Amino acid sequence: MSLIRRLLELDDLDGAQFRGLLDHAHGWKQQPDLLPRALAGATVALVFEKSSARTRVSTEVAVVTLGGHPVVLRGDEVGLGHRESVEDVARTLAGYCSVLMARVYDHGVLETMTAAVDVPVVNLLSDRAHPCQGLADYLTVREHFGSLEGRRIAFVGDGNNVAASLAFGAALCGAEMTVATPVGYELDLDVLQRARNLGAHLETTNDPYEAVRGADVVYTDVWTSMGQEAEAEVRRHAFAGYRVDAALMAAAGADAVFMHCLPAHRGEEVTAEVIDGPRSLVWAQAANRMHSVRSLLASLDVAPPVPGGRR
Ligand code: CP
Ligand code: NVA
Repeated sequence: MSLIRRLLELDDLDGAQFRGLLDHAHGWKQQPDLLPRALAGATVALVFEKSSARTRVSTEVAVVTLGGHPVVLRGDEVGLGHRESVEDVARTLAGYCSVLMARVYDHGVLETMTAAVDVPVVNLLSDRAHPCQGLADYLTVREHFGSLEGRRIAFVGDGNNVAASLAFGAALCGAEMTVATPVGYELDLDVLQRARNLGAHLETTNDPYEAVRGADVVYTDVWTSMGQEAEAEVRRHAFAGYRVDAALMAAAGADAVFMHCLPAHRGEEVTAEVIDGPRSLVWAQAANRMHSVRSLLASLDVAPPVPGGRR
């Protein structure tokens, strides 16, 4: 599989790279003694404009176990786009670090970073995409069912960043996906077109029951994402019929599982009975964040580091 130059969304990968990442993630999970020191001597910058538990810790652990050194920064610490332009921050970090990873409000910030530097840039969540989550999720689905091709994913909720990355992942692995959202909260047309151009079997509906019929996976995300807090009340009303509860799970396939990227709000997008019940894979997903991002980090096109910096 060819080395990866950047990951802003899963369609930065081809099918072979996507499958290769899942294979390596699974292989090193089973046989950690085979893990390469792929980041030996390398420093990786992790910039967070928003809160994080899973992404921050899984990525930091992954860097360390590959022999690298993570430097974690809050966006406001470096004054990203305020104290200094995004380009200047990125160029500065790329002078010391072999990889830039960032969680940002505006996806455009990642594009600006990518254009400014010659080291790999990885999206740790933007308003448009969450590719590292998608990798972990398809690893989890493959581990649970044994295969991905033809698996039916029903996403119920906000057609936002997580749904978009799942749609691209479905295209890359041959899964079928139906996205049920309220009117006004659909996947972006651009995402739909790009995913379908990649070969995705991707349907949309406003009816959650239609979406989950025959599904192997019922997936949801929060109704109000980070950065949208001012819309929370409006969204609570708009999404009221889109809660994943026992009745919706009963309408899915008999062996269907429940998935959620977390953090979750029990009683909003999912009931406690479902997320804490026997069909929930959420803790396997969360744990797989480390295995999948480690596989990604080991597959990046990283120049051999020199002591004290990259140059
Ligand atoms: N799923 C996810 O990205 O979790 P965090 O926001 O805690 O990183
Ligand atoms: N859609 C959520 C995902 C968090 C992991 C958000 O953007 O806040």
